[in-house]
Amino acid sequence: MSTQTYLTLTQHILRRQREHPDATGQLSSLLTQIGVAGKLIQAQVRRAGLVEIWGDTGQTNIQGETVQKLDRIAEDSMVEVLRRSECVAAMASEEENHVIEVPADMAGDYVVLFDPLDGSTNIDGNVSIGTIFSVYRRHDPNEVLRKDILRPGREQIAAGYILYGTSTVFTYTTGSTVDCFTLDPGVGEYFLTRPRVRMPDKAKLLSINECNEPYWPSWVSPYIASVKGQNDAEKRRVSARHVGSLVSDFHRNLIEGGTFLYPEDNRTGRGKLRVLYECNPLAFIAETAGGAASTGKKRILDIEPEGLHDRTGLVIGPSAEVAEAERFAREAEGR
Ligand code: AHG
Ligand code: MN
Ligand code: MN
Repeated sequence: MSTQTYLTLTQHILRRQREHPDATGQLSSLLTQIGVAGKLIQAQVRRAGLVEIWGDTGQTNIQGETVQKLDRIAEDSMVEVLRRSECVAAMASEEENHVIEVPADMAGDYVVLFDPLDGSTNIDGNVSIGTIFSVYRRHDPNEVLRKDILRPGREQIAAGYILYGTSTVFTYTTGSTVDCFTLDPGVGEYFLTRPRVRMPDKAKLLSINECNEPYWPSWVSPYIASVKGQNDAEKRRVSARHVGSLVSDFHRNLIEGGTFLYPEDNRTGRGKLRVLYECNPLAFIAETAGGAASTGKKRILDIEPEGLHDRTGLVIGPSAEVAEAERFAREAEGR
């Protein structure tokens, strides 16, 4: 089958740009460059095992997690491509302690926050992984301010991910639609394969690490039991699917209809997933596709982050399912 009748990622981005007559083209250029970084990363991911890039670097990141060699390769690819794009003023990465500022003579109008490689514990098992990104417009043309980085996710102007799965898929939104593109490795170009994605209204999949049950807040087990109970009541089958790479779990649930949960840990009151690099971009995509994302108590996109590496509980999926999870949380807490 030929891809010559499919829209390319660049063509799609330029069409979206035409909907905004005052656009400078810088956001279009930035999104295209993120696509290039994704091609560089996927080329390395596809060679993992062949060229000594399995395994860890021997270092620990700011999150206290072991840095895998591919984490470092993905981080370097994103930073170097974005630094030279002339579209970006600053970056923040899950792997770095500090904001990465771009020299003024190369700086552009945008701030990009990213998880260079999500699901990195899955690398050596050949399980799908991805890069997640979030884009904001900077406030001040002359300096990067704290409020450029630490801001609620509802201020995002674009977000997306590149999934290194059975194929490489680039998914992005600028708030009007969610569109997915598949990389044709022979051509080296992304082609539009899933236009205007809508998250199915009902969840037929449930994704949660059930081994964490002893540490779940009290509402989670009754909620999970109620989902399992729907199998008979609504004559539908809900199946468990959990990859352990958020980006892969999210993408599958976006396409097929499913709810992903990673609740906060009741011992610490903290979640595992990062607000800025994981939850906000996927929440923006979920909402644009007709779904929802919540901490269990409030909308993810309304979180006011206090630190670069803040974490939260996450429930993300079809709106009605997320609302139901929030209802269980409210009732358990007597709210
Ligand atoms: P990362 O590889 O970027 O550190 O993120 C891993 C995250 C996420 O992808 C996944 O859903 C979650 O960690 C899995 O955690 P558990 O092993 O605790 O279930
Ligand atoms: Mn991650
Ligand atoms: Mn990561």
